[in-house]
Amino acid sequence: MLVTVEGIDGSGKSTLVAGLAGALADLDPVVTREPGATWVGKAVRRAIAENRDPVTECLLFVADHAAHLTHVVRPALAEGELVISDRYSDSRYAYQAVTLEGTMPDPEGWLRSVHAPFTVVPDLTFLCVLPVEAAVTRLKEHKEHFEEATVLDAVQKNYLRFAEAEPERFVLVDAMLEKEAVLDFVAAEIRRRVGSRR
Ligand code: TYD
Repeated sequence: MLVTVEGIDGSGKSTLVAGLAGALADLDPVVTREPGATWVGKAVRRAIAENRDPVTECLLFVADHAAHLTHVVRPALAEGELVISDRYSDSRYAYQAVTLEGTMPDPEGWLRSVHAPFTVVPDLTFLCVLPVEAAVTRLKEHKEHFEEATVLDAVQKNYLRFAEAEPERFVLVDAMLEKEAVLDFVAAEIRRRVGSRR
């Protein structure tokens, strides 16, 4: 089963994923991430740091996804493992639909068609949602170019639109709750779904 965790920067998603590894240790999950599960992640980091061309950056994120699928996700799913990924294809649909604006007519449509022939669609996606101001406050320390409030606002709107379009896949998580409450809720939901598949 493939579970993904999504949300804007500062939504507490990475803390949640780290907590899940412990809370679900008995299920022995493969905990992974995008970008950066393979060597391609280094190229992505460099592209983010240079911030030169959104199309180049996007294609590196897609390359990172392809390598992640080949080297981590598909092999683990073939073994029947529970895979939990901190970010996945919805990050591209949400973020690059914003960063590619103005470079081509329909960035989201293009992104979806690029992924469609080779990606694996998640079984379950948790979307961590919070007011953008709260996320920006949490991010004060360290800023990447995705992390401006206007960008995050547009990205979160995209995510919420996807969740509305695919209610059977998405579960909304109130990221303003205490981190223990968020972890308990998500861990219980994953157990419930894993249980109903067995
Ligand atoms: P990440 O390392 O997950 O940062 P964080 O742990 O702070 O969420 O991702 C780095 C940045 O890259 C983050 O701002 C989100 C962005 N990103 C995209 O724009 N598109 C993508 O497809 C992915 C996976 C990440």
